[in-house]
Amino acid sequence: MGGLLHECHQLRPFAKYVGVERDQETLLQAKFAAPKGTKLVLADYLLSESGQFDGIIANPPYVKAQRLAYHADTWRSFEERFGTTLDRLTNLYALFLLKIWQDLALHGRAAVIIPAEFLNANFGEEIKERLLKQMRPPGIIVFSPSLNLFKESLTTSTIIFLEKGRSKSAPCKLAKADSLAEAEVFLQTLINEDASALSTDYRDLDALKSGDKWLNSLLNGTSQAKAHQMPKVIGDYFDCRRGIATGANDFFCLSKSGLDQAGLELSHVDACIAKATDADGLVFTPEKLSALASADRRCYLLNPRHNGTALASYLQIGERSGIPQRHLPSHRPVWYLPENRAVADIWVAVFSRENIKFILNTSGAKNLTCFHGLYAKADNKNLAPLITLYLNSSWGHEAFAQVNRFYGDGLNKLEPKDVEALPCPEMPRQSIDLANNLHANLLMIEKLPANARQGEIDRFASKFLNLQVLEVL
Ligand SMILES: C[S@@+](CC[C@H](N)C(=O)[O-])C[C@H]1O[C@@H](n2cnc3c(N)ncnc32)[C@H](O)[C@@H]1O
Repeated sequence: MGGLLHECHQLRPFAKYVGVERDQETLLQAKFAAPKGTKLVLADYLLSESGQFDGIIANPPYVKAQRLAYHADTWRSFEERFGTTLDRLTNLYALFLLKIWQDLALHGRAAVIIPAEFLNANFGEEIKERLLKQMRPPGIIVFSPSLNLFKESLTTSTIIFLEKGRSKSAPCKLAKADSLAEAEVFLQTLINEDASALSTDYRDLDALKSGDKWLNSLLNGTSQAKAHQMPKVIGDYFDCRRGIATGANDFFCLSKSGLDQAGLELSHVDACIAKATDADGLVFTPEKLSALASADRRCYLLNPRHNGTALASYLQIGERSGIPQRHLPSHRPVWYLPENRAVADIWVAVFSRENIKFILNTSGAKNLTCFHGLYAKADNKNLAPLITLYLNSSWGHEAFAQVNRFYGDGLNKLEPKDVEALPCPEMPRQSIDLANNLHANLLMIEKLPANARQGEIDRFASKFLNLQVLEVL
């Protein structure tokens, strides 16, 4: 709405200003707030030839590539203009960053606030390569994920500071800021070119590679170089798949009393876990499942193996509420039959805050989308307790920190392919007896007081996986 231009004008009243905006309404609004004499351009900035600037300040739009309407030819022309290949999943804000770099005059400076997601995402690799090799930004601030700068959107923000024409050997620093005040201190250090402070307090961009997950490295304090080198990944032993999506949990997922009320039987349902808060600890046992049922939690997934009047009446209730027309049910061969997923060996919580849940599943329950499921690849079935032990160990936490995704507000997320990419040690072969024994130990550890549990998990992991005690990173 012209706010940024207004603020710039407060700092530099005699500069000439240009604002570029694609939306007519917004441009009209900006006419009131922007400083007098500002040239306001109604255009797609990426396609505009707006000139070369001594300063650029931008809060670019965040639009996923799938929603961008650029033609294949236009993508190719971006590649030519920006001098880099571009993943077709590149978000609009990253394209803005490249164009802003191009529009900077020699010695010009830019400050661009964008989501930090590209520092981890696959599509960001080319952009990071560009940052390392060509743009060489004097500074990048990543705000703590718990700091939500934009009230209406859940995102971790970063500000990229650019300057055209710096020497290739000039320092490029990466800083984490827990507050705006911390960000200001970093910026002040950059402006003063206080090399002594810069060399100690902040990360060197040159220590990172474009293929690294920069956010994990910065926010979790683990860089690929510092973390324990693990020769394998979880995906070598297990497949990870997201849980069952019903499209209407209220209808498809029933409690014991819900079953009784509808006259349905156990042969109409599968046991399931519908909420991450319903499962805790290291092992989800048949006893825990029974406790959920007794507490009348929704832990029965409709999956009828025979017909009958009770089922027919229940399905009619669904039909009357329009469930078959909903997106997911309408795309299934039979609207009320869930996707065919086996019971997973291990559950991995999709969202987490402090500690992520990795739970050995011995209950026979299926998991809905609150958990991803790990499924043993051929011959690895007996590894499930050992992998659970590892994932819950300090080494597992460190590995998780290398792959997790940061949502705003301190929330972490894992996609199935992130779980498969989790580094892990070479897993020794396990006999059924060894696996049973470890399973019993996991149950024992789970009963320990909270403050003793981690130490015991690490002791077992170190013993069975021959891992060295972690040095403080
Ligand atoms: C995140 S908002 C920021 C608005 C403003 N800069 C601010 O800080 O309040 C992004 C703005 O970019 C505009 N926009 C979206 N796509 C654009 C494009 N291709 N070229 C120019 N402006 C665009 C949107 O209409 C929106 O006003």
